Amino acid sequence: MTTSVPSSPSPAPAVRPTVVRTPPLAEPSGWHEIRLTVNGDRIACQVESRLLLSDFLRDRLGLTGTHVGCEHGVCGACTVLLDGAPVRSCLILAAQCEGADIRTVESLAPGDAPLTAVQRAFHECHGMQCGFCTPGFVMTTTALTEQAGRPAGPEVADALSGHLCRCTGYRNIRRAVCQALDERFGE
Ligand code: FES
Ligand code: FES
Repeated sequence: MTTSVPSSPSPAPAVRPTVVRTPPLAEPSGWHEIRLTVNGDRIACQVESRLLLSDFLRDRLGLTGTHVGCEHGVCGACTVLLDGAPVRSCLILAAQCEGADIRTVESLAPGDAPLTAVQRAFHECHGMQCGFCTPGFVMTTTALTEQAGRPAGPEVADALSGHLCRCTGYRNIRRAVCQALDERFGE
C-alpha cells in the first residue's frame, strides 16, 4: 500500500513592492534677495537662508549695538524694533525681514544727536552697570513710549519680564522706565 505524500503548496507569488515615484524635491535655495529698511537706510542684499537677523545686523551691517547673549530668545539683549514692535533678533531669520522696517539702538541718537528721553532716563537713573543688557531694555522701553497711550503697570512689567540683567538688580532699570514714561505721557 502506498501512501500519498501531500504535495507542498506552490510558493506564493512574490509581492512586488509598489514603487511610487514622486517629483524630486525642489532644491532649497540657499540665498534670498531681501529689501528692507534699517535705521532709515534702504538696503537690498542677498542673505543666506539660515542667517539670523542679529548676525545680519552685527556682522553684515556693523551694527554691534545689538548685543547677543543667550541666542535662544531668553535674555532679551538682542531686542530690536521690527515695524515698531520689539522682537528678539536672535529668533528671526534675516530672510524673513523682506519689506520690514528695522530699528536698532544706533537709530536713537545717531552721530552727535542728543540722547532720547529713554536713553537719558537710563543714564540719569543709573539703569545700567556693564551695559550688556541695556540696548534691549532701551529698545523695549522706546516701543512702550511710542504707544498711543500710557501702558498700564502690568503691561510694562510684562514687557520688561523678557529681559535679563545680571548687574543692576532691576530697581534702577524700573526707575528709568518710569521716568521715560512719565516724560512721554505725564505722571
Ligand atoms: S540673545 Fe536673543 S534673547 Fe538672548
Ligand atoms: S547692566 Fe550688566 S547685564 Fe544689565
